[in-house]
Amino acid sequence: MNTINQDKKANNNLLFTAKEAYRTIRTNLMFSLAKKGCKTIMFTSSVQGEGKTTTASNVAFSIARSNKKVLLIDVDLRRPHVHRLVKLSNTPGLTNVLSGFNSLEEVIHKEVFKGLDVLCAGTISPNPSELVASEELAELLEKLKADYNFIILDTPPVNIVSDALTLMPYVDGVVMIARPNYTARKELQNAIGQINLVGGKILGVVANGAQIEKKYGYGRYGRYGRYGRYDRYGSYGTASSSAQEQAAPAPQEDVSEQTEKTEEEPKEEA
Ligand SMILES: Nc1ncnc2c1ncn2[C@@H]1O[C@H](COP(=O)(O)OP(=O)(O)OP(=O)(O)O)[C@@H](O)[C@H]1O
Ligand SMILES: [Mg+2]
Repeated sequence: MNTINQDKKANNNLLFTAKEAYRTIRTNLMFSLAKKGCKTIMFTSSVQGEGKTTTASNVAFSIARSNKKVLLIDVDLRRPHVHRLVKLSNTPGLTNVLSGFNSLEEVIHKEVFKGLDVLCAGTISPNPSELVASEELAELLEKLKADYNFIILDTPPVNIVSDALTLMPYVDGVVMIARPNYTARKELQNAIGQINLVGGKILGVVANGAQIEKKYGYGRYGRYGRYGRYDRYGSYGTASSSAQEQAAPAPQEDVSEQTEKTEEEPKEEA
């Protein structure tokens, strides 16, 4: 399990520890998928607001920094947020291509950072499930695999909507995000069970926001249970922010730090 601590109050050396955590995830991902060609990795979680988008975006940046060609795709067509983190326009994007209004070339934001392209979600569609399950999306992903070393998919939570499960056949592995003192154990177990059921390969679980300054603080991870309330997620399916999201601490995104020099490429499997 990887841990990320972005709580500024808890750790003055924030950026260093957060960056290190993303690098660790990057290295683990590079070693955990023994395949040649493009590696397609989904980031998901059990419920809303656990840090999927933040982690997926930062890991995409981190992989690009190691001289890989990376495409970050926002496949959360209901509550897209990647564009906010990378400060891009969300439209036109994926949905506009799937609906036939735009070409891929028109909507991919090229070289947002050296080596990193971004495909935002696009115009909010009334039928996101159909778009995610469409042959067009499968074909589009297949086509994109020829152009990138890594494709990172940011997706909605597994226990709320089925989109991430629908995408499972097209990805090589899944990174689960959980948030200590936030993610209910039964929610995480349920999500993992569903992913296993559709044959998904879980590459690892990221403990996002873990209090790592407390020695061996993973013990706190046992205190699940605060978040079983589905009524809180009633806003899923709209573009508006939920109360829970607004209550979350301000992001300390590494993604805006685009000036860092390219890192040495970690050695990958043959
Ligand atoms: N490690 C962290 N420390 C502090 N704040 C964080 C951390 N990770 C995420 N956040 C904040 O928590 C909120 C939710 O994060 P994010 O949007 O990445 O979650 P998500 O799982 O993608 O949510 P959704 O289910 O709505 O797509 C955001 O305000 C984000 O900035
Ligand atoms: Mg998100």
